[in-house]
Amino acid sequence: MNEIQLTAYEVRPDEEPLLEALAESLHFDLIKTGEPLTQETLSLAQGSVGVTTLGQSDMNEEMFRALSALGVKGYSTRTVGYNHVDLHGAKQHGVQVSNASYAPNGVADYTVMLMLMCLRCYKPALYRINVNDYSLEGLMGRELRSLTVGVVGTGRIGRAVIENLSGFGCRILAHSLHPSEEMKNKVTFVDMDTLYRESDILTLHTRLTDISYHMINQRTIAKMKPGIILINCARGELMDIEAVTEGIESQKLGGLALDVFENENGIYHRDLKTSILKNRDMAYLRQFPNVVMTQHMAFYTQEAVESMARCGVESLLAFAKGEDWPDRLC
Ligand code: COI
Repeated sequence: MNEIQLTAYEVRPDEEPLLEALAESLHFDLIKTGEPLTQETLSLAQGSVGVTTLGQSDMNEEMFRALSALGVKGYSTRTVGYNHVDLHGAKQHGVQVSNASYAPNGVADYTVMLMLMCLRCYKPALYRINVNDYSLEGLMGRELRSLTVGVVGTGRIGRAVIENLSGFGCRILAHSLHPSEEMKNKVTFVDMDTLYRESDILTLHTRLTDISYHMINQRTIAKMKPGIILINCARGELMDIEAVTEGIESQKLGGLALDVFENENGIYHRDLKTSILKNRDMAYLRQFPNVVMTQHMAFYTQEAVESMARCGVESLLAFAKGEDWPDRLC
């Protein structure tokens, strides 16, 4: 029995040994569950000074009030994104918050892989091989070096994508609210309209906020180059999926790769083979040969998972000891 107890929610089986090893080496008791943090599972936080979740727990003001009433002092999301966390609500109830800061390389590499999969028609090629169809018809691709890639957002992931792309010889444009001097030799910063007009591939690496919600919509798709390929490894809610689906149907969009999807909670990271899928858009879009969808796994590397578990608990221990933490959000 240690002095400090932490509760971890949404623990995947691959995280269990990592969290257990951290509990052993950093001397804290660990309560863990695979379930998200809800009013029903809240009682597992009883006696804990800190609580950690992934991204499928709705961390609203009411939840922070309830956690604070249980004596919880710190909350960490083992994710980089924190759109599921009401920071204002946490502050109001005196709960300190942190997010994970795993290296951006896994997501950046995956983003480039999705670009290449779309450009080289890899989805239909893979289907064909599986049924002994070795034909080439309809599979002619494009080369990155003759294309313009637009990057929305130049935070850690956007910058790593630009680094990766700089070896392919493509023209790289980017839009950022804070264009960094150090990137200016690799990328040309432009306004969003120019990015829409000139990009052959557009990749999203911006945070989900009230302003960026549905930034890809009918109006912005109308500004884009015909045949553009859209890539989203950030958050599903950045896209109005109805507008994007119409874009695929009308062939205004030449390809689409989605590692994330609006209303993916309760679906992604679960085996639902024998269930009825509660997201019609997801089921419909999946059918198109030029639409690649994956299960929110761009982050999923050994390196990132280890770092997520470590950031998740180390920040809570720092909060419990009254120490500061570099990635404190509030
Ligand atoms: C993130 O870290 O923001 C992710 O998207 C990863 C996922 C486990 C929610």
